[in-house]
Amino acid sequence: MVKLGFSIGDLQFKNPVITASGTFGYGSEFDDFLDISRLGGIVVKGTTLEPREGHPYPRMAETASGMLNAVGLQNKGIDYFEKNIYPRLSEYTTNVIVNINGSCIDDYVALTERINRLEKIPAIELNISCPNVKMGGMVFGTNPVSAREVTKAVRRVCLKKLIVKLSPNVTNIVDFARIAEEEGADSISLINTLLGMSVNVRSMKPSLSTITGGLSGPAIKPVALRMVWQVANTVKIPVIGMGGIMNADDAIEFILAGASAIQVGTASFIDPLASVKILEGIESYLVTKGFSDIREITGLINRSK
Ligand SMILES: Cc1cc2nc3c(=O)[nH]c(=O)nc-3n(C[C@H](O)[C@H](O)[C@H](O)COP(=O)(O)O)c2cc1C
Repeated sequence: MVKLGFSIGDLQFKNPVITASGTFGYGSEFDDFLDISRLGGIVVKGTTLEPREGHPYPRMAETASGMLNAVGLQNKGIDYFEKNIYPRLSEYTTNVIVNINGSCIDDYVALTERINRLEKIPAIELNISCPNVKMGGMVFGTNPVSAREVTKAVRRVCLKKLIVKLSPNVTNIVDFARIAEEEGADSISLINTLLGMSVNVRSMKPSLSTITGGLSGPAIKPVALRMVWQVANTVKIPVIGMGGIMNADDAIEFILAGASAIQVGTASFIDPLASVKILEGIESYLVTKGFSDIREITGLINRSK
């Protein structure tokens, strides 16, 4: 048996495959397809203090090798989550991580305090990188001063492991990774979607109601991989890589570049079994190559320089 586990501080993950926020619902949507407890973890839908309607339709558009979305963090808010979703989530024997979002620092802090009470949630993913909400999200993640302030404020109250999710819509990703580490993040995840747009030439209108939206899928993989490599070479805390991972080879590229774990996003829309197939593929790759522990290949390209 190959060892696939990794850890964030003292929080153990049985394997490095985690599903990405906003692309896997609350897990239960996938119960008919796979045993979620096989995964290293799931990051549930972006959650806010108050319910959010999200943006008007159309809010999804297919692009070359990618997908644009402007869902706008639609969710039912933390009260609904705590009462109706959390009891079901706590049955999974995998790490269930809540992705948190806010319009101001106080929102993030209040939400963190609410999640502190949820015993079965071992970690928070702080989303300072959503490109499709006017207030909050990327506004925090693309400005070094506010990125620092929100991370510091959440860290001060957060009793869980804190994963800070970075936006790729910046000039120098490394600056933001350093800020997250300096302010006490236990891990960094990246990348969120890249800001993009598309126009429908038949209707002569933008494809999305919001005009711009977040680009995900294979189209962003080389950018994501470059950023993960840069960040993994900068910080000491574990890095979770994502962006266009569709199969095990894609995942292994991120691990070789320095990611301790990966998240599967858009791929789950195409194949609900993508995450488990990626997990099985990573395992057989390691067996074929004669490795007994995934950590032997984590960041290998950097070591062999
Ligand atoms: C429809 C959709 C909704 C998303 N919602 C969230 C969200 O609520 N919070 C978040 O941090 N990221 C969200 N993301 C970003 C993904 O978690 C991931 O960072 C991004 O899609 C890149 O990975 P991928 O190319 O594998 O999809 C969303 C992505 C998509 C496609």
